[in-house]
Amino acid sequence: MIKIFESIEQLNLFAAEKFVEIAEQAIKRQRHSRMTVALAGGSTPKSLYRLLAGDQFRDKIDWRRVKFFFGDERNVLPDDADSNFRMANENLLQPLQIEDENIYRWQTELQNAEQIAAEYASEIEDFFESNQPRFDLILLGMGADGHTASLFPFTDALHETEKIAVVNRVEKLDTTRFTLTFPIINNARNVIFLVKGADKAEVLRDVLQGEPQPDKLPSQNVKPQNGELFWLLDDEAAEFLK
Ligand code: 6PG
Repeated sequence: MIKIFESIEQLNLFAAEKFVEIAEQAIKRQRHSRMTVALAGGSTPKSLYRLLAGDQFRDKIDWRRVKFFFGDERNVLPDDADSNFRMANENLLQPLQIEDENIYRWQTELQNAEQIAAEYASEIEDFFESNQPRFDLILLGMGADGHTASLFPFTDALHETEKIAVVNRVEKLDTTRFTLTFPIINNARNVIFLVKGADKAEVLRDVLQGEPQPDKLPSQNVKPQNGELFWLLDDEAAEFLK
């Protein structure tokens, strides 16, 4: 489903209501009475996180039943300005006073990148008691180059079929990232993309309406096999859609 909003406030409102609905269903349905969510990094979700933690939404969810994970992370310490955990912590987790035991983050304080990814994969596998975890919700952003999570164009992680979580070397940024892989993203019950801004408009048209180019446009690979996919766009990002 593609939805276009006139403002980021309207987009966030829809996303927050969807979050509440998914949480209610998950908590009711599952034997563990819980909702599992993988949060997105970058800048776009910040105002959604604040909305969820604010007066309008905080009482609509039993937050003790929500288990927070992270779709991707930068190779920095958790208190670094670039850390996705830090952004979510400041805008969502701390304001809601989420207990540490409900937060599952990439342990970037470990020295070795391969170990950081392997430990996150095994933590997820242990939590779900499955090597094919099914998140209730995965939130995603999209970069102006078509990447999502830390699945960048023409990088090795795009082709990972076995592992839940991997290290991904991104040469063009001269950086190392950590990311969940497409098999896990596509096994989720719900995937919500949040995309805003004119700088995304051209690539968004190519991702949604262009030829399949899965290496060049990683976001095209997001196709939940047995789940719902929502593209929530502001009107600037959606400008070139036909
Ligand atoms: C990250 C991400 C990444 C992000 C997009 C969009 O760690 O940066 O998770 O995939 O969602 O780059 O970022 P913006 O929301 O900042 O445009």
